[in-house]
Amino acid sequence: MSPSAPRKILVTSALPYANGPLHLGHMLEQVQTDIWVRFQKSRGHDCLYVCADDAHGTAIMLAAEKLGITPEQHIEQIRELHVRDSEDFLIDFANFYTTHSEENRRWSEKIYQHLKDNEHIATREIVQAFDPERELFLADRFIKGTCPRCKAEDQYGDNCENCGATYSPADLIDPVSAISGATPVEKASRHFFFKLPEYEEMLKTWLDSGTLQPQVANKLREWTDAGLQEWDISRDAPYFGFEIPGEPGKYFYVWLDAPIGYIASFENYCQRTGHAFDEYWQPGTDTELYHFIGKDIINFHGLFWPAMLHSAGLRPPTAIYAHGFLTVNGTKMSKSRGTFINARTYLEHLDAEYLRYYFAAKLGDSVDDIDLNLEDFVQRVNSDVVGKVVNIASRCAGFLRKGFDNRVASTCAEPELLAEFIAAGEGIATRYENREFNKAIREIIALADRANQYIDGKKPWVLAKEDGRESEVHAVCSVGINLFRVLMTYLKPVLPAMAQKSEAFLNTSLDWTALQGPLLDHELAKFKPLIQRIDPEQITAMVDASRPAETESAASAATEAAAKTEDQDIIQFEDFARIDLRVAKITAADHVEGADKLLRLSLDLGESGSRQVFAGIKSAYKPEALVGKLTVVVANLAPRKMRFGVSEGMVLAAGPGGEDIYLLEPHAGAQPGMQVK
Ligand code: MSP
Ligand code: ZN
Repeated sequence: MSPSAPRKILVTSALPYANGPLHLGHMLEQVQTDIWVRFQKSRGHDCLYVCADDAHGTAIMLAAEKLGITPEQHIEQIRELHVRDSEDFLIDFANFYTTHSEENRRWSEKIYQHLKDNEHIATREIVQAFDPERELFLADRFIKGTCPRCKAEDQYGDNCENCGATYSPADLIDPVSAISGATPVEKASRHFFFKLPEYEEMLKTWLDSGTLQPQVANKLREWTDAGLQEWDISRDAPYFGFEIPGEPGKYFYVWLDAPIGYIASFENYCQRTGHAFDEYWQPGTDTELYHFIGKDIINFHGLFWPAMLHSAGLRPPTAIYAHGFLTVNGTKMSKSRGTFINARTYLEHLDAEYLRYYFAAKLGDSVDDIDLNLEDFVQRVNSDVVGKVVNIASRCAGFLRKGFDNRVASTCAEPELLAEFIAAGEGIATRYENREFNKAIREIIALADRANQYIDGKKPWVLAKEDGRESEVHAVCSVGINLFRVLMTYLKPVLPAMAQKSEAFLNTSLDWTALQGPLLDHELAKFKPLIQRIDPEQITAMVDASRPAETESAASAATEAAAKTEDQDIIQFEDFARIDLRVAKITAADHVEGADKLLRLSLDLGESGSRQVFAGIKSAYKPEALVGKLTVVVANLAPRKMRFGVSEGMVLAAGPGGEDIYLLEPHAGAQPGMQVK
């Protein structure tokens, strides 16, 4: 054990929005952070984990309004739910606060004042869409309309979910406010900007410093390489947030005061407990500060936040640890599939520690996505935790109780084996420190395999039946218990409740720092089951409970099918195999009245009949040049009603768009109707 002084570490995870329940994606982040924090504590460090709800913004204001309550009531109700969910996932917060607090207001004003004093704030008028009925400015996602490219209706904001076009909301055809349905008007107003470009050099140095994960630094370099833009940090009333001092009707944008919420939550903790505060935020300190976040918010934490801290004369984070997104059964969490699982729904069916273990077994130090495969989950937890780890204790405990008054032998029969287990601890600790939990788990389970092999080899159940071999039984089972003790110590950051039960059973505390020698001539308590096996029925019940009711289900399947973001949705092989691709002959191609990108194609699919398909290929093909050509069509796509008629499939083409669109053409020998494999 390193005898050096304890480190002083402050850790945060991202502040969940106070407008909905926590789901398993949030829990991935909190569990990752919590394991790391518990690990630091078990190593004897002073490590504190603070978090809060992110309580500001238009969405929360509108949600409260819909519910007919004040935003303050709304965020308080949500906060209570979040606190309970995290607690039941055994998340060990020192403090879970809210950004809608006096501490946060004070710090936001103070930091803003620094930015202003340093002339890092610019002011200018900008023109934005405005809802004349509700009298509020509309962020892109609150504007709907018809896609200017493919004419799909009801598209949100600045990209089309049908054809993938990106545009400015001003280009939408027939735009409406998603809040009131009114036609937005353009309106100018004065905004405040943080002059991020002044930090270009500082940020480039920070990105090159080796502090950030390589994938994160690379992604952020795309921003600095493109030239940093000034960051709009103000919003106009009505807005739920903090009013900018001296600027009536102007509010801090939620993303300005959200990270400051880390400071405020910690300050609130320090005031309640008398813990030191300043040394954590002053530059040049020996304290450490870590932010655990998801990969979707790295620009805020990796660019804007360090720049703000610098301007305010505060210390930069020691590191930012980004993780990937949680997928379930290989795809984005989906309501219709029952895999959009809320933290509470999970807890109603399954033990939190199962998931903590599974996440640990999968989490590495990269931003790769993490898949929760529900079958693998059951198999892995049952086989590793129950079948391997708990098994060691349960099989030894019985013999010790029956024959030896629950006492561990007074000498260790396998000092070398035990010493190896203890020596493996430094490597495992390094894995935890570096957030390679998957590797730590692999090494721990390899040790568990060895412990089981040792017991299997000695066969205490055979020895117990033979006369005069009691002391051998005692020796083997005492070794088994000592090996179990070491393993549970290593697993304690991941499985705190199971570790606690093990502490009661072993009648000792499982501290990494206390792992010197064996437990000798030591009395155990009665062994009680430490954890149950997962019954696959529990999974089925949880998935069923996560599915929307029948009537909602079709709607949510449809919105989800449309809701494709930049992230590539992974599909399973079975899904791909369901797609029926056919060779089709274009028998007619026509302009479509009123559509500047679309052609109407008549397709001959041989025995599969004929189809009408609309294709956004007019910029690349003259209709007359298409007639007689062969192409490939998705033949089993549900018919789609478009403004100009029903489209009964989709032709396949490649290219970035404009003139560069190339219809896929099968070899001339192919016949209409042939399946493409
Ligand atoms: N309020 C902001 C964070 C402000 S931090 C100063 C926010 N909130 S959030 O509720 O949308 O997300 C909170 C955290 O959960 C983020 O780090 C986000 O990346 C993470 N996750 C949300 N969905 C997730 C998955 N499906 N998978 C893994 N993490 C995900 O962003
Ligand atoms: Zn479109």
